[in-house]
Amino acid sequence: MQIITTKAELERSIQACKMSGQTVGLVPTMGALHEGHASLVRRSVSENDVTVVSVFVNPTQFNNKEDLAKYPRSLERDAELLDSIGAQFMFAPVPEEMYTAEEMNEPFRFEFDGLDKVMEGKMRPGHFNGVVQVVSRLFYLVQPDRAYFGEKDFQQLAIIHYMVERSTLAGTFGKLQVIGCPIVREASGLALSSRNERLSAEEKQTALNISKVLFASLEWAKQPLASVPEVQQRVIDAINAVPGLEVEYYEIVDQSSLLPTDTFKHAIGCVTVYCGPVRLIDNIKYD
Ligand code: PAF
Repeated sequence: MQIITTKAELERSIQACKMSGQTVGLVPTMGALHEGHASLVRRSVSENDVTVVSVFVNPTQFNNKEDLAKYPRSLERDAELLDSIGAQFMFAPVPEEMYTAEEMNEPFRFEFDGLDKVMEGKMRPGHFNGVVQVVSRLFYLVQPDRAYFGEKDFQQLAIIHYMVERSTLAGTFGKLQVIGCPIVREASGLALSSRNERLSAEEKQTALNISKVLFASLEWAKQPLASVPEVQQRVIDAINAVPGLEVEYYEIVDQSSLLPTDTFKHAIGCVTVYCGPVRLIDNIKYD
């Protein structure tokens, strides 16, 4: 596997692959790779001739400096994992390679028709703007045939779909296919996340109650008189009842519009929970 740190070298290498007719898959990541990322890379390796994995802790999507500073980084371990899976390129630039000082401080403002104003977007203003800033740049540089994202960040995936659908109208990203891949969980049910590295063994035991409650809520939703507001509140109460967990939000929304819904049809419940100081997210589809 080749490790690339500059945009120019990335574009040159990809151009050479494209010239020989090879298809290209892209897996954008912020590193600290785990089995969830590995599942995306494996899928890309199986569906494309060439796989590029970006490893870049994107400063413009963090609205909390401490969160950015504490984000786990493990470049060497990441490179070993990617090499063992069969990725051809790891793109690991420094922030100055990706952005000018102006772009870093005053990013271009994207418009997402309100998809960025709910849930994560409401709690982390500007977060999705930063995500799309880096993802669209990666799309321009790599011009991938397929790009892979995990469904754990469901709102992020919805926003990237929206961005690509609109750009495709203008022909910007050609025939790019955005592919959402299922959440990978530990045997305990805990959704894999780079942030789990910051949990102590005890906190990890506590955190597994998040998915336990979400899975229980599938049954609650099947009760004859179950309503969305009642199940929503029951999930919040059950998670908050676990010492060490505190729900920031739990919202049952329509999977396409991300707006509140009064039916479990095509609905998804998205949760953010503090486990001690660590902010974890998870979700469950009701239908
Ligand atoms: O999901 C992530 O890890 C990041 O938000 C992404 C898509 C790599 C953009 O920085």
